[in-house]
Amino acid sequence: MKILAIESSCDETAASVVVDGVRVLSNVVASSRQMHEKYGGIVPEVAARMQLSSIIPTITEALLPIGDPSESLLHRITKHIDAIAVTIGPGLIGSLLVGVETAKTIAMATRKPVIPVNHVLAHMYANFIDTRNPIQFPAISLVVSGGHTELYLMESPEKLTWLGGTIDDAAGECFDKTARLLGFGHGGGVAIQNAARLSRSIGKPVLPRPMLDKENALNFSFSGLKTAILRQTQKLQSAGLWNDVAIADLSYEVQEAITDVLVKKTLRALNLHHASTILLSGGVSANTRLREKFNERIQETGMAITLHAPPVPLCTDNAVYIGSYAHFRGNPVSWQEINAFPDLSVEVRS
Ligand code: KG4
Ligand code: ZN
Repeated sequence: MKILAIESSCDETAASVVVDGVRVLSNVVASSRQMHEKYGGIVPEVAARMQLSSIIPTITEALLPIGDPSESLLHRITKHIDAIAVTIGPGLIGSLLVGVETAKTIAMATRKPVIPVNHVLAHMYANFIDTRNPIQFPAISLVVSGGHTELYLMESPEKLTWLGGTIDDAAGECFDKTARLLGFGHGGGVAIQNAARLSRSIGKPVLPRPMLDKENALNFSFSGLKTAILRQTQKLQSAGLWNDVAIADLSYEVQEAITDVLVKKTLRALNLHHASTILLSGGVSANTRLREKFNERIQETGMAITLHAPPVPLCTDNAVYIGSYAHFRGNPVSWQEINAFPDLSVEVRS
């Protein structure tokens, strides 16, 4: 089955053609992130306007390898594409509507079914692309993005059970807010990761590891970390100790705190559900320290645990995993039945 997938939930406009959920024929991503840098964060109105101007060129480019380029776009979709997949939520309403309405229009004109996709659940399916190492079930899946930190039990590609999530900030949000506090602007987790490499404070934890207790077994909380960083920053600044070394040390420490919690909770879920496979996904799963720490802790357990993590470009937002999810877990509907849901729940049990 050949799916044209469309993603427009936030500041990326993406389109992709995916075959049978695992083979990528095209993957096009246009980002308006740079536009938002001067405002210090994503401005929904600006993001939606950029979605509008990017959506058709992005879809056109994604369809380049499909059919005879001298034929019209709609003709090629009618002839070669089986279904249109589109993110319906969660996300920014203005951005989501651009993708959803475009998908509806294409589906109406070509009489193809539309597959509504939950963006957060779809992130996990980046692990199904080109996998030379087939996924063994049950698996524990950790989705760590800018807006979500969620744990799932995956018993098959279709069967997902939500196990826990963040009660306040997501891990990515904590990276992003800390990056701003440390003066990295909109650089987010990548800026923290790079600065942390320059730290010399290895082995001296100064930040809390939130919610590691058994009571909050599989939930997360990262808002306290951001406050702790703010306090440390103010303390160092008033003592005249604010310099590149201090910034590197705080970057190192916040990255250690976030990754410690993520690894510990994921391994706890693995034990609770007698699983031996871990799937990582979402923008934060691109973090090299997170991947390294997972590998170290897995080694320490002495158990045969397999860790899957997508290639870095498939961790952050794209339409490839939208197409993969649609293949494995999608429910095709007609264009009249589809809508955007900015607050779409991620707490599935099916
Ligand atoms: O999945 P994603 O692209 O978008 C959402 O669906 O939210 O995730 C974006 C998040 C941002 O918070 C960004 O700072 C974080 O992923 N991120 C990273 C890294 N690369 C992206 N965090 C830590 N280390 C990285 N290397
Ligand atoms: Zn995402």
